[in-house]
Amino acid sequence: MDAPIIRLLRPDDAGAYRTLRLQALRDHPEAFGASHEDEAARSLDMTTRRLDGGPLNCVFGAFAGENLIGTAGFIVPDRSPKSRHKGLLVGVHVAPAHRGHGLGRALVKAVIDHARAHVVLLQAAAGVANAPALRLYESLGFRHYGREDKALRVDGVFIDEALIVLDFAADA
Ligand SMILES: CC(C)(COP(=O)(O)OP(=O)(O)OC[C@H]1O[C@@H](n2cnc3c(N)ncnc32)[C@H](O)[C@@H]1OP(=O)(O)O)[C@@H](O)C(=O)NCCC(=O)NCCS
Repeated sequence: MDAPIIRLLRPDDAGAYRTLRLQALRDHPEAFGASHEDEAARSLDMTTRRLDGGPLNCVFGAFAGENLIGTAGFIVPDRSPKSRHKGLLVGVHVAPAHRGHGLGRALVKAVIDHARAHVVLLQAAAGVANAPALRLYESLGFRHYGREDKALRVDGVFIDEALIVLDFAADA
């Protein structure tokens, strides 16, 4: 098989993106802020619009041939003058069969390269027990700046999250 391609998702990728995202939310509810139930209720049109959000609201995808097998997203949630220097790394996920081959790293690197041109800080959060994600982010230079206790409640169980950040100004 050819090496996977990493590229920005486009509106016409909405169907594949929705399918992979629903799998991620179903299989790893503790790893994402969104719920499977809410996402399943969203129309394909809403997903299509999400993939047409411009450089401050975008998703990178990894493709094996035609198949979408991984994603990582970037959002600047607050565009006000005092906050628009902060972006979020979100929705990092690789399909189970494709893990352990460097795709997660390639996807997060793609978001980092993109974010560097738009924000000063790239923030992320991961469950304190999510060793694969935390090791990946730490190896790419993210540092811990805090911890949110009970950040998520999943089926009655609280998940504490590590808050991490990549500071492009400190980096320079
Ligand atoms: C986290 C995730 C995206 C990693 O994807 P991946 O393609 O398997 O990762 P890579 O092969 O690029 O590995 C990159 C680094 O991640 C870390 N890592 C990956 N899998 C790991 C594991 N099972 N245990 C410990 N560290 C691991 C390692 O530091 C690895 O670097 P190395 O190969 O040099 O040791 C994937 O496990 C996943 O989709 N998990 C479920 C969803 C999730 O938790 N997303 C993160 C939400 S914050």
